[in-house]
Amino acid sequence: MKIMVVGGGGREHAIIKKLRENPAIETIYALPGNGGIAADAVCVNIGATDIDGIVRFAVENKIDYAVVAPDDPLVLGCVDALEEKGIPCFGPRSEAAIIEGSKVFSKNLMKKYGIPTAAYEVFSDAEAALAYVETAPIPTVVKADGLALGKGVIIAMTRDEARDAVISIMKDKKFGKSGNSIVIEEFLEGPEVSVLSFTDGKTVVPMISSMDHKRAGDNDTGLNTGGMGTVAPNPYYTDAVAKECMEKIFLPTVEAMNAEGRTFKGCLYFGLMITADGPKVIEYNCRFGDPETQVVLPLLESDLYTIMKATTDGTLAQTEVKFSDKHAACVIMASKGYPTAYEKGYEITIPAEITDCVFVAGAAEKDGRLLTSGGRVLGVTAIADTLQGAIDSSYKMVEQISFDNAYYRHDIGKRALAAEPEA
Ligand code: AMP
Ligand code: GLY
Repeated sequence: MKIMVVGGGGREHAIIKKLRENPAIETIYALPGNGGIAADAVCVNIGATDIDGIVRFAVENKIDYAVVAPDDPLVLGCVDALEEKGIPCFGPRSEAAIIEGSKVFSKNLMKKYGIPTAAYEVFSDAEAALAYVETAPIPTVVKADGLALGKGVIIAMTRDEARDAVISIMKDKKFGKSGNSIVIEEFLEGPEVSVLSFTDGKTVVPMISSMDHKRAGDNDTGLNTGGMGTVAPNPYYTDAVAKECMEKIFLPTVEAMNAEGRTFKGCLYFGLMITADGPKVIEYNCRFGDPETQVVLPLLESDLYTIMKATTDGTLAQTEVKFSDKHAACVIMASKGYPTAYEKGYEITIPAEITDCVFVAGAAEKDGRLLTSGGRVLGVTAIADTLQGAIDSSYKMVEQISFDNAYYRHDIGKRALAAEPEA
């Protein structure tokens, strides 16, 4: 069997390593992959948003199954285009990927179907948004409607910041067309939980919960990033919270998408905040999270390909999805300066005995050497019986890896440790 994975970051590396455990899979192609992924897949130099190129490659190479991992190709209709050529895919069609592609869509969906989320207003006129900001409760949250590389959310702690956010998104078009409309919403407080789920449009199977660390600096300081580390499971996601989420959020969302004629198949990601009023949706993603995937999939004991195929075929209810009861921690090693300016091209040294635990996000291969090529460079994941054990052994591996200008947070998992119930 020949499988193709669209994308080229740490998340895709984690997906590929897990897929490789299935002996029926002979070849995995990564489009475009990266220098580190090349150790586990055949990398093909076709970009993740080159939909025509992806489809042509899949047809010419008789791909049996495609996994489309990043948000952009999903929103652009990569799954639709592949399915038209008869290639089965993991991932939603574009009409369903809109749940991430448009915040106006997702907020209106939640309102229409009574799914708990922050109160909000939508604006497509900058002057109306600016007038609203004058009376909005502060802090407030300003969100660009469309995709913005994870940077389209501004938490305004003052009225001035809220005005600036509206102006930069709607007038200065900081995120281009993604800022034609905005959502201004209530500021919520509480611990955050990421829950990735498999769904075939009928059944929804949550994966093990996780906690992301979005800020660049220790103790949650500095700029927002794509994520500097993760742990799983998330201690805030208790059995009671999980039950409430299933009843009030997960199933209602899948049913709402069906009712809208936008059946969602693939990985539906729920970004949740556990508020004093119960769990609320902060955001939906139409895909696996990065770096959540790097702690969630290593804990999956069932076969990933079988589960993925079941989401495509509508047989998820009959498919086993089993997770280990261990803990995982992933520390992201980044280039110093990320998420703004950083240098690249530095040689990475990873001891051979730990390569299994390393997911490569931003590295290029040159003359047999691995060189840094991105902001987030590596994700280093350890599994252990306890959260403390996973954190300790992840940091121990991080210390054995070297490249110039390496930067990482020192407190991944600290908040989760503090929240763990007494043993
Ligand atoms: P997003 O880009 O949608 O993942 O949002 C980035 C981060 O902004 C989230 O992980 C939250 O920490 C924060 N955030 C988003 N919406 C809200 C909200 N309504 N209240 C408080 N924080 C929020
Ligand atoms: N780690 C958050 C995301 O993938 O959107």
